[in-house]
Amino acid sequence: MKKCLICNTRIDPFISFGKMPLANGFLTQDQFADEYFFELKVAFCPNCGMVQLVEQPDREKMFNKNYPFFSGTSKLMAVHFEEFAEHVKKDYLSSQDPFVVEIGSNDGIMLRHFKKDGISHLGIEPSENVARVAIENGINTICRFFDEDCARRIVQEHGQADAFLGANVMCHIPYLHSVIEGIKILLKPKGIVMFEDPYMGDVIEKMTYDQIYDEHVFLFSVSSIKYLFEQHGLEVIDVEPQETHGGSMRYVIARKGIYLVSKRVSVQLGKEKAMGLDKPETYANFRKNCEDSRDKLMSLLNEVKKQGKRIVGYAATSKSTTIINYCGITTDHIEFISDTTPVKQGKFSPGAHIPVRPYEEFLANYPDYAFLFAYNHAKEIMAKEQKFMESGGKWIVYAPKAKVLE
Ligand code: SAH
Ligand code: TMP
Ligand code: ZN
Repeated sequence: MKKCLICNTRIDPFISFGKMPLANGFLTQDQFADEYFFELKVAFCPNCGMVQLVEQPDREKMFNKNYPFFSGTSKLMAVHFEEFAEHVKKDYLSSQDPFVVEIGSNDGIMLRHFKKDGISHLGIEPSENVARVAIENGINTICRFFDEDCARRIVQEHGQADAFLGANVMCHIPYLHSVIEGIKILLKPKGIVMFEDPYMGDVIEKMTYDQIYDEHVFLFSVSSIKYLFEQHGLEVIDVEPQETHGGSMRYVIARKGIYLVSKRVSVQLGKEKAMGLDKPETYANFRKNCEDSRDKLMSLLNEVKKQGKRIVGYAATSKSTTIINYCGITTDHIEFISDTTPVKQGKFSPGAHIPVRPYEEFLANYPDYAFLFAYNHAKEIMAKEQKFMESGGKWIVYAPKAKVLE
């Protein structure tokens, strides 16, 4: 019997995506035989409302010295994190000599904007290769997983923090109770927590079920986050919807009673009720929509292949792993996936083993169709690929539904 990671209530999965490899497990041919798989099943907790994976690989399997995701690969995300940092500086750092801690700080994409202004900062980043990039750029970073014990050490060495930040990392951590106890040790009495993650409401609304993969053990909503932090005497004081990753939510949290709570919190909670995020039926319906989406996508791909056209994948994203393996996309459909990240090039995609090739190969021989796996970077990519489109190239997209963009 499985128990909710947040409130210990018994949970049952509402969908299984089947056997899945690690979403960032790009591999070489000699590693095919030992590839790791687990069953990707998702459950909704009827008590606290948290949507969660029923099974998750060990953290060291996912976050280690070979973590292939470098935040800096997207220009738009770089702008996004500059704005995030400016917002924190302007609205939340009023003390004389502020200290900012960010978990999952990756290559330093956000912290560099604090460093630039001489603000004391510390990144907590367990994946050694990405942490090294930050350190080489002079960003204070320690290479470990954040939890209660880590918080104690930070306070011993650096004192308490004014702000605790995180982007696309809180939803990766199954032991959130320890993280939140750590936050309480770490934060000054008036300190704030600010983090953002893909938002459950958007996943349901836009059918971006590719947000569900090994690393994302949780899909948060305002109501589930509120429940979780209230158990520890903390309060959600504001929420700010974001466009990143196909729809994210930023949460601002502080010790209870210190700050006024923005109206936006109750407005968003109302929207979640109206969407039925608190009802098991919503998730049963979501499962049906996933199956429909898969069927539509596969008939589209099969149709295009019947016409003898070439399809190349655009960007070997982590979230494409769920789409590819759940839908059953193979090298019969997609010739290769073009990607700009050197450590992914020359390797094969997790599970389906579609070759990942340098972006230059896409440019050198345009396919008839590019399958846009990085729909969250669509604006940036469309602007860059005018020539492909002018030469008759078309896009295949899968969210919110499978279709061809001419
Ligand atoms: N914040 C960046 C990176 C997100 S990827 C961005 O939004 O682009 C998630 C990062 O969290 C990875 O670099 C991973 O190594 C890190 N991470 C995973 N578990 C963590 C933990 N317990 N504490 C701190 N960082 C963690
Ligand atoms: P993400 O969707 O998880 O952020 O992953 C982004 C991946 O997409 C990363 O491997 C780099 C790749 N990419 C390209 O290949 N070309 C591009 O233009 C962009 C924006 C990303
Ligand atoms: Zn629960």
